[in-house]
Amino acid sequence: MKREWWHNKVAYQIYPKSFYDSNGDGIGDLKGIISKLDYLKDLGVDIVWLSPIYVSPLADQGYDISDYRDIDPRFGTMDDMDELLKEAHKRGMYILMDLVVNHCSDEHEWFRKACEDPEGRYGKFFYIETVKDGKLPCNWRSYFGGPVWERLPGHEDKYYLHVFHKKQPDLNWENPDLREEVYRMINWWLDRGLDGFRLDAIINIKKALPFRDYPADRDDGLTTVHNMLKEAKGVGVFLREMSDRTFKPHRAFTVGEVFNERPEEIPDFIGEGGYFSSMFDFAETVFGQSEAGWQDNIDITPDDYRNCVFETQKKIADIGFISNIIENHDEPRGVSRYIPEGDQSPESKKLLATVYFLLRGLPWIYQGQELGMENIPVASVDEVDDISSIDAYQVALDAGWSEKDALKLIGKYGRDNARTPFQWDASENAGFTAGKPWLRINPNCREINLETEKADPDSVFHHYKKLIALRKSGEYGDTLVYGELIPYLQERHNVMAYLRKSKEQTLLVLANFQREPQTLPLPGKVKKLLLNNLPDDPQITEEIRLAGYQAVVLELSRE
Ligand code: GLC
Repeated sequence: MKREWWHNKVAYQIYPKSFYDSNGDGIGDLKGIISKLDYLKDLGVDIVWLSPIYVSPLADQGYDISDYRDIDPRFGTMDDMDELLKEAHKRGMYILMDLVVNHCSDEHEWFRKACEDPEGRYGKFFYIETVKDGKLPCNWRSYFGGPVWERLPGHEDKYYLHVFHKKQPDLNWENPDLREEVYRMINWWLDRGLDGFRLDAIINIKKALPFRDYPADRDDGLTTVHNMLKEAKGVGVFLREMSDRTFKPHRAFTVGEVFNERPEEIPDFIGEGGYFSSMFDFAETVFGQSEAGWQDNIDITPDDYRNCVFETQKKIADIGFISNIIENHDEPRGVSRYIPEGDQSPESKKLLATVYFLLRGLPWIYQGQELGMENIPVASVDEVDDISSIDAYQVALDAGWSEKDALKLIGKYGRDNARTPFQWDASENAGFTAGKPWLRINPNCREINLETEKADPDSVFHHYKKLIALRKSGEYGDTLVYGELIPYLQERHNVMAYLRKSKEQTLLVLANFQREPQTLPLPGKVKKLLLNNLPDDPQITEEIRLAGYQAVVLELSRE
């Protein structure tokens, strides 16, 4: 595999609305991010992805863009953006924006013009169909609930397609004119000095056409969009064109939000000369998800988690460089999900951090993850902001769940969990804002916050710093970045272990993913203990005795 400048970096996702509010309006902003660049630099972060900050009605928190070439005033100005780029580059950091081009906002000028003249240039930017006798063109269900078809404002008989919210009309990628507009916009940003993009929902840009029904999978008579995506062929043609026309000439870094890729497609996606630099591993994210709704989801156990991760590692092998996460702005907090309920502690959080961070691939940290931020309980549906949670709540009620139990589902799976403001300190609003925060603050900010954790050398925060330092160290960095990953003791219950092996070194990451201690065999002689998440060193003979939720990194001798 060809070595790239970004392979040994550490990436970080910022959800700007909840990161840091500089002006007291309760909403995080670009000036807030600029003021925290030194924090990120000190943590060891190199690449920063910002969730959308473009002009938007915020129906889906910025994933509904009404002007791709400007900053939403709630987040700041174009000058602030230029300053952010300048300040980041000064510190040797890279900034990525979110590229949301499967759809725009229904308040985008293109869509307004499409409503005025559906047959005209802009009408062809969207999927607009004439409907006779009330029969919609197909029975797909939008990701946020209800049919994907919505009546085109001002037209009795015309409907437009939206696979997400009705305020997110899908752009018609079959139209070369639309594609040109998108490429111009991407190049405009890259020419301004942006370093790259995270590609939102990108697989959805190719539809299986003509529109047709698929078997219904719920009582509503609708079918998941995934059934259509399985049949949609040829997304690669669009991705290749986009990459050749924009990312490649700028040598931009890109990371794709890609779900359910076919194994044979991986080389095209992230192999040498692939469409993207990297893509996220979602194998563990989607584990146990049911098409019927959250009420039918299955919990993930430590063994399932390990098996998902190893499957991805095997599938990707040397083809490319995957991006590893435990959470993002669409998912519950990783520590609340992958650590069995009731076992969340600084130790178990550090264990999870260790086992995912040292995998082969690019490690990503989602804001607050480095503090061990957790899910937030929900007392009433009125406090929920996330549109997908509100839909899933209703689906659970319709399936016969009580309000109380349906609320629990939101507390477990909802997107607000990761979107509550960053916990800077123990003060009333967690130091996030001097005003009223746009989304409630997790009450655990009194214990879980940066100020407290900075002062405690045994905190989750300091463990992340150690992991970053280890991956960047001159001594072990090369093995941790490029070394082969070989699963170890994969059949052992509640153990996650693997070797990272290069020509010169063999490292062993070994974790006891349960409360009870375990004694485990070692694959060789231990040369050095490099990292331990507990204060006491483990007993090492031919075997190693690990306490509950203990995780260690060992260097093995090579005789
Ligand atoms: C992606 C985003 C998510 C958004 C959706 C529609 O999955 O991560 O937040 O709602 O796309 O843009």
